[in-house]
Amino acid sequence: MKKQVYKERIIYQIYPLSFKDANNDGYGDLKGIIEKLDYLKDLGIGMIWLSPIYASPLKDNGYDISDYYKINPLFGTMQDFDDLIAEAKKRDIKIVMDLVINHTSDQHPRFQEALKNKDSKYRDYYYFRKGNGKKPPNNRNSAFSGSCWEKVPNEDNMYYLHLFTKEQPDLNYQNEEVIKEVENILRFYLDKGVSGFRCDVINQIYKTNLENGKFSLFSRGREHYENQEGNFKILERFRKEVLDKYDEAFLVGETSALTPKIGQEYIDRRALDMFFEFDHAFCKSFKLIPIFKKPFYKPKDLFKPIFKWQKEVSWIGAYLENHDQLRSVSRFGDEKEFYKESAKALSIFLLSLKGTIFIYEGEEIGTLNYKNLTYEETNDCMAKNAVDSTRKILHVSKNRAFKWVNKTVNRDHARAPFQWDDSVNGGFNEGHTPWLKINEYYKEINVKKEKNEDNSILNFYKKMIRLRNESETLKFGDFEEIKSNNYVAKFLRKTNNEIFLIVVNLSKKTFKDKKLDESKEIILSNYEKHNKNVLKPYEAIIYKIK
Ligand code: GLC
Repeated sequence: MKKQVYKERIIYQIYPLSFKDANNDGYGDLKGIIEKLDYLKDLGIGMIWLSPIYASPLKDNGYDISDYYKINPLFGTMQDFDDLIAEAKKRDIKIVMDLVINHTSDQHPRFQEALKNKDSKYRDYYYFRKGNGKKPPNNRNSAFSGSCWEKVPNEDNMYYLHLFTKEQPDLNYQNEEVIKEVENILRFYLDKGVSGFRCDVINQIYKTNLENGKFSLFSRGREHYENQEGNFKILERFRKEVLDKYDEAFLVGETSALTPKIGQEYIDRRALDMFFEFDHAFCKSFKLIPIFKKPFYKPKDLFKPIFKWQKEVSWIGAYLENHDQLRSVSRFGDEKEFYKESAKALSIFLLSLKGTIFIYEGEEIGTLNYKNLTYEETNDCMAKNAVDSTRKILHVSKNRAFKWVNKTVNRDHARAPFQWDDSVNGGFNEGHTPWLKINEYYKEINVKKEKNEDNSILNFYKKMIRLRNESETLKFGDFEEIKSNNYVAKFLRKTNNEIFLIVVNLSKKTFKDKKLDESKEIILSNYEKHNKNVLKPYEAIIYKIK
């Protein structure tokens, strides 16, 4: 039986651009990550997932790779990466790489050759197709808005496919050579000692055909490229040809548009070891449509989709934040009156779920969204595209469109430089202007300050992480939902020997319940003093049932 390390450890996602800038050039780097390994060890982290560190023009911040075998010089060298693996190993921290293989950067030499030379064999590594009369080859659109076809310059009526930005051309997985190349990439990093891969948009890599798609505002044509049989087959092949040859190698998939049944199929067929679902990330508090006002949102909108997946699949990657999401306290908690309580309640909620827990950098100190971020300060390509499309569809001003986009989908809120202390640039570096502006709250919310405060969010995370790391019940117990109201989540985690009841109030309301504390012992709670049979605003408790 292969080791399933990913089931036992908490995974911490690092966004390298923003974590720690050791050489003070404005960009985070690998040396910076090495400097902070002790911090992560002390937090109780057993594995880190690095967002892409490969050579890239950074049009989509590294999710556009121009050389899979090189490290982006902004982050350091291959030697720095080897040092990181060695230093992490000394501390028993494993490394997970981001595998972005649906597309490459348009600056990848093979794409460049394909673009310039009609007869290049690399044309078939991508999707080059003739237009349909004056129109693109089909009616599909890109996830980042607009058509997913871009015209090839200096060539008549020729287009290439990109499901994301036009600088991210899609690879053709009907081509054997492309699959073999990915296998080489996997081996290259596994041989270096990496434990697994987080696979970017991995359920979309295989395009069954290029027919027109059914009508849909977003991602038209998805029925021809999401969760196709060919997709399963490729992942099964990676398993057999590569992963199975390594002791503990695993894959976690980024998979939107999934049902629990299809998700479970990925696991049962060993195509993936686990995956991220997106139902909760798209829950109502996400005011995608501008007329959606916050009062419509109830915490149950968050609990319900999460519980659905907890119940229906055998294992999952559980998360509230990543580099594409708004900060969870800003979205699901309370930035003001119950700031600390709500951040701690979210920590209890997340770290009590079934599956592998993913914590995103800064989540453990209660990082908030920016107070103010302007269009000009925004870096995120998706947010900028979203402003353009909102303007086109709703005929509104740029300011208005940006206001909505900023509150809902601007990914820069998650990407601000990490807040280490209250010195210049929050200790991210020594003062060089960072690639993205510093979050305005850095003087109040930072590691140094929270380390010294007994009841800080950081110290609470530490406690909660320790509890999870030491508890077989929290790590491996079954999940069972207990009926509750619109504001309070209640669920059990149970093994044959032990039952935990987790109660999380994600609202400002107070609830009385005569039986709340009956026959139970409190294991951990986010208030210093718990009033018997009362659940205070944002109060969260882990009970052991006697
Ligand atoms: C994934 C990444 C996101 C990126 C996109 C295209 O969704 O998480 O950051 O923009 O894929 O690669």
